[in-house]
Amino acid sequence: MKPIQVGLLGIGTVGSGTFNVLKRNQQEIQGRAGRGIEITMVADLDVARAQSVVGPDVKVVNDARAVIANPDIDIVIELIGGYGIAKALVLEAIAAGKHVVTANKALLAVHGTEIFAAASAKGVMVAFEAAVAGGIPIIKALREGLTANRIQWIAGIINGTTNFILSEMRDKGLDFDVVLKEAQRLGYAEADPTFDIEGVDAAHKVTLMSAIAFGIPVQFDKAYVEGITKLGAADIKYAEQLGYRIKLLGITKRTAAGIELRVHPTLVPAKRLIANVEGAMNAVMAHGDAVGTTLYYGKGAGSEPTASAVIADLVDITRLHTADAAQRVPHLAFQPDAISNTPVVAMSEVVTSYYLRLRVADEAGVLAKVTGLLAEAGISIDAVLQREADEISGEAATQTDVIILTHDCVEAKMDAALAQMQALPTVLQPITRIRKEELA
Ligand code: HSE
Repeated sequence: MKPIQVGLLGIGTVGSGTFNVLKRNQQEIQGRAGRGIEITMVADLDVARAQSVVGPDVKVVNDARAVIANPDIDIVIELIGGYGIAKALVLEAIAAGKHVVTANKALLAVHGTEIFAAASAKGVMVAFEAAVAGGIPIIKALREGLTANRIQWIAGIINGTTNFILSEMRDKGLDFDVVLKEAQRLGYAEADPTFDIEGVDAAHKVTLMSAIAFGIPVQFDKAYVEGITKLGAADIKYAEQLGYRIKLLGITKRTAAGIELRVHPTLVPAKRLIANVEGAMNAVMAHGDAVGTTLYYGKGAGSEPTASAVIADLVDITRLHTADAAQRVPHLAFQPDAISNTPVVAMSEVVTSYYLRLRVADEAGVLAKVTGLLAEAGISIDAVLQREADEISGEAATQTDVIILTHDCVEAKMDAALAQMQALPTVLQPITRIRKEELA
């Protein structure tokens, strides 16, 4: 049978990896897919560089629409990124009857509903394994491997840049700004790292996992997003003393009130496997009622790890290309008529436990006032740590840090208690609040 023909839009790091791995493992991939898979046309603004990557046998153009218009192309891979031209091209490819493979989490998290509806109407597939956790086959695991389960929660380290920064902060005792500069110098962090360090990239990814896990529409606008820019080395050290590590987690949970969908720095018990995921690696925990807790670990970015996910999608599409559209795995795991309107709950309704750090005047009765306010709010304390007096020097010698771990409470209650504690004259700096998850 004639190989399936693929057109590639954008041949940067992931595109080159895809081309090279497809070529290198051609025979095995064909053996699995049932027919050959060939990239026969590439669109890139830098035609000369693209041609040097793919060699003379592949047609290279600078106009992505020429790829979409080519009737021989069966699958279009979109690796341009962003919501702008990428959205127009994906919708045009669908309208032209092409299947689409994309690594574009931002596009799908924000415009997924429109894109999946267009694809279903046209009877084509939009595959996005590479959009979440790079080379880890987490979409396949959630959508197919765990299909028997009522999924209860997912928690993941799904941004390598921030995990690298947090690992360096912990290892070297450095503050965020210093490590970020080093990460940029080494090429780990982008020149504009905003989406990574502010948690937006992780929120795009957890939004997609949440939709698949719980059968709800993709709703990035409902996600709570908090990055790592305000974390200090002191909090990482105190957390360590209490038996925890701080990780930027994407969390989504089924609760009686609805679905929690949130990204924020999180204290995780140091003994959990996920707490020991270091550097730029990714890991996702998923808990299903039948299977219990599962853990997936691997490279969340990079040329060939991401290519591995892109090619897995190409193979899936090649196998199902001629199948009746109704027999294919639905984009969001659930059949379109089974997608539910279970609400995503507001952050104020989320139930979790907390790490609080208060810089206070080191005088009699301060701790009693603080714990008294928590008691009045009905918030139960799990542990208290006070910084040793000999660790404090200079102008801060009359001050101390009090660290409190709480049991679970609803966030609105904690917000109110924090406002009262902050108003105490003996609380000298803004209180640090970091959420904590036991992931048991
Ligand atoms: N910038 C992402 C990360 C990789 O640091 O994990 C692509 O999603």
